[in-house]
Amino acid sequence: MRIQIINGPNLNLLGVREPDVYGSTGFETYLANLRKQYPQAEIEYFQSNVEGTLVDKIHEVGFSFDGIVLNAGAYTHTSLALLDAIKAVSTPVIEVHISNVHQREAFRHHSMISAGCKGVICGFGLDSYRLAIEAFLHS
Ligand code: DQA
Repeated sequence: MRIQIINGPNLNLLGVREPDVYGSTGFETYLANLRKQYPQAEIEYFQSNVEGTLVDKIHEVGFSFDGIVLNAGAYTHTSLALLDAIKAVSTPVIEVHISNVHQREAFRHHSMISAGCKGVICGFGLDSYRLAIEAFLHS
């Protein structure tokens, strides 16, 4: 099982950025634990702040991997290009968010990308990523 985690803009600052919302653990630390928890899965990680680079990554892995776990950050709420990329590839994508976007500002309530995704997990902190991996492993 090959799973690609993709993080979008500002998620390189996890652990530092708004810790009251996103927690104080950096993603690399979390990822090391995740890989230990799921030795049966090959978990790759990619982060970019650039919309087109995220589209390129989805194209690159989207015909060979078994699953993509995507936290598109703020592009979730704006990016038709990401929705089209998700729909263009054959690998299923699970949309994740660390925070419960529905408890936050109204502009975070709508996702441009959900319609193309297999499912959406939000509000469980970094555990949202693990829950997405569980979903891939059990589907
Ligand atoms: C986020 C929620 C988005 O609204 C926000 O722009 C992010 C992070 C989350 O993981 O909770 O950058 O995707």
